[in-house]
Amino acid sequence: MLRTHNNGELRLAHVNQTVTLCGWVQRTRDKGGMIWIDLRDRYGITQLMLEEGKTPKEVLDLARTFGREFVISATGVVVERLSKNDKIATGDIEIRVSEISILNPAKLPPFLIEDDTDGGDDLRMKYRYLDLRRNPVRANLQLRHQVARFTRDYLDNQDFIEVETPVLIKSTPEGARDFVVPSRMNPGEFYALPQSPQTFKQLLMVSGFDRYYQIVKCFRDEDLRADRQPEFTQIDCEMSFIEQEDVLNMFEGLIRHLFTKVKGMDLGEVSRMTYAHAMKYYGSDKPDIRFDMKFVELKSEEVDLVSDKDFAVFDAANTVVGINAKGCAEYTRKQVDELTEFVKRPQIGAKGLIYFRYNNDGTLKSSVDKFYSEEDLKKWAEAFGAEKGDLILILPGDGDKVRKQLNELRLEMGNRLGLRDPKKYAAHWVIDFPLLEYGEEEDRWFAMHHPFTSPKPEDIQYLESGDLGKIRANAYDLVINGVEVGGGSIRIFQKDLQAKMFEVLGFSDEEAKHQFGFLMDAFEYGAPPHGGLAFGFDRLCSLFGGSDSIRDFIAFPKNNSGRDVMIDSPSTIDDKQLNELKIRTVV
Ligand code: AMO
Repeated sequence: MLRTHNNGELRLAHVNQTVTLCGWVQRTRDKGGMIWIDLRDRYGITQLMLEEGKTPKEVLDLARTFGREFVISATGVVVERLSKNDKIATGDIEIRVSEISILNPAKLPPFLIEDDTDGGDDLRMKYRYLDLRRNPVRANLQLRHQVARFTRDYLDNQDFIEVETPVLIKSTPEGARDFVVPSRMNPGEFYALPQSPQTFKQLLMVSGFDRYYQIVKCFRDEDLRADRQPEFTQIDCEMSFIEQEDVLNMFEGLIRHLFTKVKGMDLGEVSRMTYAHAMKYYGSDKPDIRFDMKFVELKSEEVDLVSDKDFAVFDAANTVVGINAKGCAEYTRKQVDELTEFVKRPQIGAKGLIYFRYNNDGTLKSSVDKFYSEEDLKKWAEAFGAEKGDLILILPGDGDKVRKQLNELRLEMGNRLGLRDPKKYAAHWVIDFPLLEYGEEEDRWFAMHHPFTSPKPEDIQYLESGDLGKIRANAYDLVINGVEVGGGSIRIFQKDLQAKMFEVLGFSDEEAKHQFGFLMDAFEYGAPPHGGLAFGFDRLCSLFGGSDSIRDFIAFPKNNSGRDVMIDSPSTIDDKQLNELKIRTVV
């Protein structure tokens, strides 16, 4: 070893010991007679001290040549500091240096290697290896390591076996596009990278593995967001001879274990909510239930408090729904206009926002006073459970479409009112998802989860009758703070039902056989009832770390255009390689 200790471990108990430390020069302070150097490594910072007259001259001269991020080695005696620094763990001591050497000089880094850096995102990503020297980024990766370790502990204790599955496979339909890899040995043919190991883990159940897990890379070519990367990691799990309830309990257990071990806290109740309830009251299949602000309907299939008052917008809408922003009646015109602009953004797409204030003096004032009397507004106020000081925000529109718009406004209000505290956690299962959803554009049905998800036995009748929208699935998502951290289902394990499902999804017999023949064949050799789920590992880590962005928890992430700007990938390949692969590019 080139060192006797690391830079985070020396204390008063080590005083008078001669030690050798290695690390990076964080900063040098040269006060003429004295030089102090902060030496940094992964474990912390230790202060080196050199003194004119006491430290050998050649050592002082060499130290004066150090720049930031030089890699050095220093030997000296541990001494008690005169002025202690209680901000760092080694703040009681310093090293009186007698020997020093440069292990490697460094160019001036393009940004400050400090907790608060001056480096912008692009620059930090280009020099990610320098960014990773910074404490907050390193702490995120250490957290990730802990989450993986505690996950393995829990699953190992529950008899799960980690099995690796291949990365060069055939397309798995998880709803995104595949990344494909050309096969040199099979010209004109391609592998797909797995969007998840879904079919393999089901085959492992057929093989009798009973309980499988894998912390595994998945690849999806989809539009990126803060919580999406083209390659990301799942904690992928599957179990045999179980029902939905068993899966929910087992993995609620895992999440509880992680909260206890990683955060040192009890997760509290993990409630359950049906998909239908989530959509009706929150306009989202992943509601953030850290705060209430449930939707109230003024017009729907069940109520109508707004029609036939000559207000064409409400008359034309099949759904009028709103939220109660408690205590916001005194929002200024400008603030309300901001909210209107917010919902009119193209990503949200509402036409406008209607509001009424329940003023502190008891009067009710709305943006549609022309059409609605104080009496009408009183009825609305009652429906919202509104009190003096409340501001009610209302959107008219079409069913789930307007509910999704209102969901965005609800989350925005949650942010504005400080109701989405990243240190607070609220977890719940969303259950009873529809099995299928209709794609207007493509004019066909899609699997809401994936084609291997089983319908609820009592809803299988609708597969025959053609009421496809009515079929509920044995599918579930775990949502924490409005983030879908995991999802899964009980699987179809009978060949005939699986074949029916492919038929409903528009696969011809031929296509189903071509793409999934192996799975259907396997179902004929004694497939056990099985089910499972996968957690988004990066999302879990960012949640534990209190951040919205999963990139901060990935060592070498891609940017929003799917590029790794450090290694400059993706990139073109030369003609020789293309020729070998028998590929011609058209751009
Ligand atoms: P699903 O597609 O719901 O299910 O994915 C499981 C979890 O993975 C995370 N996730 C992502 N994280 C980061 N970037 C992405 N692009 C991304 N896409 C998904 C989410 C999600 O909840 N095979 C099924 C699981 C099963 O049925 O067992 C599957 O992959 O947190």
